[in-house]
Amino acid sequence: MIALKTDSPNTLRRRPASQVDRRADVALERLLPTLEAFWESEDVDQTEVDEIMERVQRHWPRLFHLLVGLYGKQWDFFYHLEQILMTTVRGWRMRDESLRQTDRHRINNPGWYTSEKLVGGALYVDLFSENLGKLREQIPYFQKLGLTYLHLMPLFAVRPGNNDGGYAISNYRSVDPRVGTIDDLRKLAESLREVGILLVLDFVFNHTADDHYWAQQAQSGSEEFSDYYFIFPDRTMPDQYEKTLREIFPTVRRGSFTWHDGMQQWVWTTFNSFQWDLNYRNPEVFRAMLAEMLFIANTGVDFVRLDAVAFIWKQMGTMCENLPEAHEIIQAFNACSRIAAPGLVFKSEAIVHPDDVVKYISEDECQTSYNPTLMALLWESLATRDTKLLRRSLSRRHNLPARTTWVNYLRCHDDIGWTFDDEDASAVGISAFHHRQFLNAFYTGQFEGSFARGVPFQHNTETGDMRISGTLASLAGLEQAIEKDRDDLKELAIRRILLLNASMLSIGGIPLIYLGEEWGALNDYDFVKDPAKAGDTRWVHRPKMQWTFLKELGDDGSIRGRIFRSLQKLIDIRKNTPAFSGLDMELIETQSPQLLAYVRADAGNRVIVVSNFSEHPQTIGSNRLRTAGMGRFFEDLYTGETITTANQVNLEPYQFLWLRRV
Ligand code: GLC
Ligand code: GLC
Repeated sequence: MIALKTDSPNTLRRRPASQVDRRADVALERLLPTLEAFWESEDVDQTEVDEIMERVQRHWPRLFHLLVGLYGKQWDFFYHLEQILMTTVRGWRMRDESLRQTDRHRINNPGWYTSEKLVGGALYVDLFSENLGKLREQIPYFQKLGLTYLHLMPLFAVRPGNNDGGYAISNYRSVDPRVGTIDDLRKLAESLREVGILLVLDFVFNHTADDHYWAQQAQSGSEEFSDYYFIFPDRTMPDQYEKTLREIFPTVRRGSFTWHDGMQQWVWTTFNSFQWDLNYRNPEVFRAMLAEMLFIANTGVDFVRLDAVAFIWKQMGTMCENLPEAHEIIQAFNACSRIAAPGLVFKSEAIVHPDDVVKYISEDECQTSYNPTLMALLWESLATRDTKLLRRSLSRRHNLPARTTWVNYLRCHDDIGWTFDDEDASAVGISAFHHRQFLNAFYTGQFEGSFARGVPFQHNTETGDMRISGTLASLAGLEQAIEKDRDDLKELAIRRILLLNASMLSIGGIPLIYLGEEWGALNDYDFVKDPAKAGDTRWVHRPKMQWTFLKELGDDGSIRGRIFRSLQKLIDIRKNTPAFSGLDMELIETQSPQLLAYVRADAGNRVIVVSNFSEHPQTIGSNRLRTAGMGRFFEDLYTGETITTANQVNLEPYQFLWLRRV
């Protein structure tokens, strides 16, 4: 049974920084003999010691301060402090020289991940290429598309049966035998590095699978490991917590707790019943997960995707999402990784209110973050043919602190939730509640005239909440157009697909393509035949890669070929246009609600992007472009056409322009 510690205010945290720093110094001095014994036992040479100690000293005050805040009240705090520092140093010790070289290089190039050269792809190894060995053979395909960043969906050992697409991990140090071994992963990382492709893996740290060693120990009654999770003898505590909790997977199971027959107890399970939430009030959990994170980093990973960040700290009487301590935990992981693996970048997965999304983003927390608001609002603009909500949101929410950036996406392995801000909506005259209902009706194809073929996900009949599953192409109208066999509709669908991609690639941030999108994969309804997938409609947009389709990619008449080659071209232009680096973006007023226009700039390099979110032609006044670009002649980087702003500029249905002054 776990002891839930009360949140008594911590005295140390409240002291002025200088006093805390002094304490940090004293604590580190007391830890020096342990460090020295380690250097000696490991035969670490002096230059190495100097290098790592320089980093320890630089990040220690911050780490110490965070750990005191989180765990300073524990009677055995100093023991945990020592354990955490030594786990960090051991993680560094295990790191290959080649990775350490990358670390040094990145320390000297802070913010390197904001480059326009970064273009990402994400895939499930088993669905894409069966296993890691065969994935290595596909590297030329990624290069052909222009990718420089590859996110492999979780590939670690999982529980049998339903494993939530790899998010129910039973061992962070072994790869699912169906896709390969840790050695295969290392080899893949190496091969990717050779051709300049970054490797991204998940750090699934909110929960483990119910058959992880720790959970098994808890099931056999170990007190030590019961404290790794939230386990309750009866409904008293769960009932109290549930008063303020949001249900994440309401169609799977009501509430956030699961009765465990073997233990005859309740377990906290925010997601599926077999995903046990970890208890970060226990410093041992922090230390144990830190060791797993550094192990993952040392396989040659450049970015870790921090899964479900919002949920990692619980506090009675709150929603148990986005609590201050959740940030402190991540910042503490960040400080440890800046010591042990400073080349590693964190990517936050917070699919929550936009005000909460940004709170995870800083150089000392997560340097990068998914941009769920942009994703949702691009789809929103496509449905309404009106960019006012998107513009409102961009004008207030796009900018981020220096050396941080967005990861922009259109589709991922998850559903689409309408996570825009209700006040942003009302500011532009939209009633948020009704608008979400409209969007759900539109994207499930229920709304008259809709082009979309989405599928409801986690429809909560009590609250009316719903999210949307479906591939980019099916949501953008291609599936319907093919079924109706109408060339005009196919044309519009292809244009929508390219318009969204062009927005994602130009607006600022790292674009991330969910592989299959690059040639217009359609929904795959066959997932219902697999009992382990049938209950989760997200599988509709996780189809198996169809390699035979790739034969069409060079074929001019093929839809897949056209989408692929257009995207390839857009990626190539992005990577060669410095104005697309970083985030700096200024909106241009156009007076047509259907248009979205902005300037991207970097040093002397400027590009004006104008996009038409409707199936009707639009025009933009030439004076608007002239003021934004201060010129008369522009070249559209995409078509190569020269445009004069002597006259107004016309845009075809769903056309976009990437204009550079000539
Ligand atoms: C993340 C993943 C999602 C998974 C959940 C639980 O949100 O993206 O696929 O279901 O975490 O791990
Ligand atoms: C919720 C969570 C998010 C997760 C998603 C899975 O929206 O906030 O982390 O990816 O559910 O559907």
